[in-house]
Amino acid sequence: MIKIGEYASLTGTEATFGQSSHNGTMLAVDEINAAGGVLGKKIQLITEDDQSKAGEPATIVRKLISRDQVIAILGEVASGRSLEAAPICQQNKIPMISPSSTNPGVTEVGDYIFRVCFLDSFQGAVLARFAKNTLKVKNVVVLTDVRSPYSVGLAQYFKERFVADGGTIAAEQKYNGGDKDFNAQLTAIKAANPEAIFIPGYYTEAGLIALQARRLGIIVPLFGGDGWESPKLVEIGGSAVEGTYYSTHYSPEDPSPVIQNFVKKYRARFNDTPDAMAALGHDSALVLVDAIKRAGTTEGPKLRDAIAATKDLEGVTGRTTMDAKRDASKPAVIVTIKNGQFKKVETISQ
Ligand code: PHE
Repeated sequence: MIKIGEYASLTGTEATFGQSSHNGTMLAVDEINAAGGVLGKKIQLITEDDQSKAGEPATIVRKLISRDQVIAILGEVASGRSLEAAPICQQNKIPMISPSSTNPGVTEVGDYIFRVCFLDSFQGAVLARFAKNTLKVKNVVVLTDVRSPYSVGLAQYFKERFVADGGTIAAEQKYNGGDKDFNAQLTAIKAANPEAIFIPGYYTEAGLIALQARRLGIIVPLFGGDGWESPKLVEIGGSAVEGTYYSTHYSPEDPSPVIQNFVKKYRARFNDTPDAMAALGHDSALVLVDAIKRAGTTEGPKLRDAIAATKDLEGVTGRTTMDAKRDASKPAVIVTIKNGQFKKVETISQ
C-alpha cells in the first residue's frame, strides 16, 4: 500500500467544502486502484476531519505524518487551514498538494507545498473586471471576513484591480467568520449607497449576509468568490441569493467530454452534482499519482521534484502545469443563481 493523507472540513461551518473535495479525491483514487494502482501498489487514502476549526489541521497533519507515515498529503480546501498545516509538511519533507486554496501565501510556505488551482491575485482581478464590464458598476462596498486569510487577500486583490481600472471603494466593512448578525455592517453599507457589494467570504456567512441585506431593503447586486460555492448558499440565503454572482473553478454545465464524464461518474456514485471542490479534489489526486509514477518512488525529495515537474496533465479543471512557484494556472468561471440553480455566465482564461 502507498499511504496518502487527506485533511478536510468534513463537518463544521465549511463542511460541504471538505465533503465535496473528499468525494472527488476518492473517485480518482478508486479509479486508479481499479486500474492496478501505481508502482505496483494500491493507494490507501487516510482521511481526517478537521471540523472547519483552526488548530485541528496542525494536529491532524502531524498525526498523518508520524503515526500513519503517509508519503504525501492532500488538502486543505480553505487557505487559512492550508497555511496552518503547510509548515509541518515542509519541515518533514512531505509534499502537500492543496486542491483549492487560492491564497498566494499557501505555496510560499516552502518548496514542498503545491496547489492545482488558480490564485486570488487572478480571481480578484477577474471579479474586478466582471464588476466593471458586466455589472457595469463603479462604486462598490467590500465586506471582508478579517479572520480568514482567503477573504483578506481576495478583498485586497479585488480592490487593487477595481481602483486601477477607475472604480471607487465606497466603504469597507468587516466581520469575523462565525458571526451571525450583520445588521450593523449592512446599515453602514446602506448609508454608503454603493452600486454593488463584494463579499469575499465563505458560503455560510455569505448566505446570511444576503438574507439580512435584502431584509434591510438593500437591492443592489451582491457578488463573491469561490468561497460561495456550496448548495448551502441557496439553502441559507433562499430567494435573497437570487441574481447574485460568484467566481469559481469549473462548471458542471461545461459540455467538454472530460467534464461530462466526471459529472456522470460522480452522480452515479454520490447521487449529487460535483461542485468545484469535487473537481479540484479529483485533480489533486491525479497530479500526485502522476508524479509518483514519474518519480518511480515515494521518497519525499524525489516525489517533490516530480510534482514540481508536472506539465500539461489533463484533469477536470483543465491542464495542470506547475510553475516555478508551485502554482497552477486555470480558467475561472462566473456563476449566477437563477431559480435556486447555479448557472454559468462566462469563462475567463488567464
Ligand atoms: N479558495 C478558497 C480558499 O482558499 C477555498 C475554496 C475553493 C472554496 C474552491 C470554494 C471552492 O480559502
